[in-house]
Amino acid sequence: MLIDIIAGARPNFIKIAPVIEAIVAKKKEGVAIDYRLVHTGQHYDKKMSHDFFEQLGIPEPDHNLEAGSGTQAEQTARIMTGYEKLLMSQPCDLCIVVGDVTSTMACAITAKKLGNIKVAHVEGGIRSGDWTMPEEINRIVTDSISDYFFTTSATANDNLRKAGVTTDRIFFVGNTMIDTLLKQLPFFTPPTIWNTLSLTAGGYIITTLHRPANVDDASGLEKLLSEIIKASNGLPIIFPVHPRTAKMLEKTGIKADNLHMTEPMSYLEFNYMVKNAKVVVTDSGGITEETTVMRVPCMTLRENTERPETCTVGTNELLGTNPDAIAPAFKMLFSGNWKKGAIPEMWDGKTAPRIIEHIIHIFGIV
Ligand code: UD1
Repeated sequence: MLIDIIAGARPNFIKIAPVIEAIVAKKKEGVAIDYRLVHTGQHYDKKMSHDFFEQLGIPEPDHNLEAGSGTQAEQTARIMTGYEKLLMSQPCDLCIVVGDVTSTMACAITAKKLGNIKVAHVEGGIRSGDWTMPEEINRIVTDSISDYFFTTSATANDNLRKAGVTTDRIFFVGNTMIDTLLKQLPFFTPPTIWNTLSLTAGGYIITTLHRPANVDDASGLEKLLSEIIKASNGLPIIFPVHPRTAKMLEKTGIKADNLHMTEPMSYLEFNYMVKNAKVVVTDSGGITEETTVMRVPCMTLRENTERPETCTVGTNELLGTNPDAIAPAFKMLFSGNWKKGAIPEMWDGKTAPRIIEHIIHIFGIV
């Protein structure tokens, strides 16, 4: 059986690494299972792509569709055209897509439309309810055509059932992002800035911002950053800047003695910084899962989340996008009363082997 593994953007790379590892382990045991890694090329910078492959030990992609940047439609179209060409000359039996990025949706549609390829969605069923996010549309479209769903939470299972998915196609397996986190934890390494600024555990803030709602308007971005700076009590704010945000930051010219902007960090360096941070202030979804497992306080600058368990079980608080919410949250943090959190069910580092066991069973592979 040949499985295509699709990866396009930074968070995908973290999610596919353990899935590939689990397939390779089964192949070594003599199970008739193999994979082909398809990189769509949505993220192409060394720091957004190559460094992740290297650090996470992901093999070289078998195919790179080189889709590159563009509008949502341009990117989707290039990924679909490239993947369709590949599937028409060399089909697979199952296409595994992960997460909610444009590559996820584009490849799911392409595989499904060819008629005889099954589609499995790892991280299926999560919903923010916010239709202005491209990721929410990607989730809904992908889930509406997938055959099998490997889910991270009971809420995701409920969402799928409400959408009419039969229970026999939903597999609650946990979180592959956490498989990677727990495996790599002993190898986290401090980035250069750790020494340059003589940082100490619990003595700084990490910020990441890349959602269009927060960064595509220069004055809004400036207001958010100013509030973080004001609320920070002078602690160093380390801000690894996503390329999308970098373009807008140039227009703001914002500066502060304790604001340190850096290039995007590698996986091992970034998570070293998260693990030791006083707090993480972010608009990412994936990072809120990592802070939950590492029990680091997290403030999310979004109105909603598709990962509610990071708030109900974990250390995450949704502050919304109004900058006025930042100061009270920091007050709570500095008073020492931030919630300690717990680890969500099945986020135990063994999700990918569970996924592959289910696939072996579903397809009757021997
Ligand atoms: C994408 C995902 C988002 C994910 C994020 C993580 C979608 C809709 N969004 O958002 O869910 O959280 O990745 O990083 O798929 N760029 C570079 N170098 C690169 C990649 C992108 O300079 O290697 C630039 C592009 O030119 C573009 C901008 O960054 O202007 C945005 O890239 P894009 O892939 O469209 O979306 P992200 O904002 O990265």
